[in-house]
Amino acid sequence: MVLLWGSCVFLMFLYGASALTEPLILTNPPEVSNMTSATLSCNLTNAPSMVKGHYWTKNDKVIEGTKVDSTDTYTEYSMPKIDGHSGGSYACVFLSTPEVKKAIEVKTPPHVAAYKHSEHGNEKDKGVLVCVSHSYPLPTDWKWYLLREDGEKTSITNGTDKYEIKSTPNKTTLYIHDLDINRDMGDYMCYGESEMGQASDKIHLRVRSRLAALWPFLGIVAEVIILVTIIFIYEKRRKPDEINDDDDSGSAPLKSNAATNHKDKNVRQRNSN
Ligand SMILES: *[C@@H]1O[C@H](CO)[C@@H](O)[C@H](O)[C@H]1NC(C)=O
Ligand SMILES: *[C@@H]1O[C@H](CO)[C@@H](O)[C@H](O)[C@H]1NC(C)=O
Ligand SMILES: *[C@@H]1O[C@H](CO)[C@@H](O)[C@H](O)[C@H]1NC(C)=O
Ligand SMILES: *[C@@H]1O[C@H](CO)[C@@H](O)[C@H](O)[C@H]1NC(C)=O
Repeated sequence: MVLLWGSCVFLMFLYGASALTEPLILTNPPEVSNMTSATLSCNLTNAPSMVKGHYWTKNDKVIEGTKVDSTDTYTEYSMPKIDGHSGGSYACVFLSTPEVKKAIEVKTPPHVAAYKHSEHGNEKDKGVLVCVSHSYPLPTDWKWYLLREDGEKTSITNGTDKYEIKSTPNKTTLYIHDLDINRDMGDYMCYGESEMGQASDKIHLRVRSRLAALWPFLGIVAEVIILVTIIFIYEKRRKPDEINDDDDSGSAPLKSNAATNHKDKNVRQRNSN
């Protein structure tokens, strides 16, 4: 019995000792959420060896300008402005052997943006609307709405013959099949939601009639027809002119006639003398 107690105490002592020497990084704050600015800090105790330096990472990429050669076991990273793009998994890394690091999650409400705020499609074709998000955490839920002119918001359901929605955390795509000028033209809203909140953006969809899509082609055809007609008319009108200009025999008799008349006059004059 005594032996059992003794080994128990000994094991507890071993456990306690190892917990004491385990490197420990205290982060402050442990997590950043919904803040407009923050200073992240790490305080390392029980470093496994001497520390030669430290730096910070964001989503496993080294943040430029944070690398410091120092034996300090304390480091800070200041974020004066936190917006939809600054969220991510940040971490402090201490250059000891082995290296030790600890992450601080910086979470923001989602940031959602339309890939293009104005889209167009041809009647009967497929309309494609895209929204993306780069915030952290990414939306866990995407929705689409059609905004009618009277301000009414209609939820769009996936999987009908008209609509198809494909979503990944960072991107949602709405396909509108068989575009109809009266029914499908208008404003669409994509809406992303995460544990941190929600955000949305708008896209205006224009639907052109098939005829409108043909206009440039018809324009070219009309241009060609007009050109051909002009050339044809020009050629038609040019032909009689050519005969008058080039044929000398046409005007020669006139000249000789005039000369003959002149001669006749002289003759008559002479005769009268
Ligand atoms: C780091 O933690 C140690 C032990 O908890 C504490 O004594 C020290 O003041 C802390 N350093 C800073 C800069 O907060
Ligand atoms: C919509 O439905 C299609 C097929 O029915 C499916 O492949 C797709 O994952 C669905 N999208 C969403 C966002 O549920
Ligand atoms: C979205 O995430 C996938 C991986 O999940 C990545 O390949 C892609 O580049 C990301 N797209 C954008 C627009 O960030
Ligand atoms: C964060 O703030 C937004 C509004 O700015 C709010 O809608 C959301 O509920 C907040 N989320 C958390 C987790 O506090």
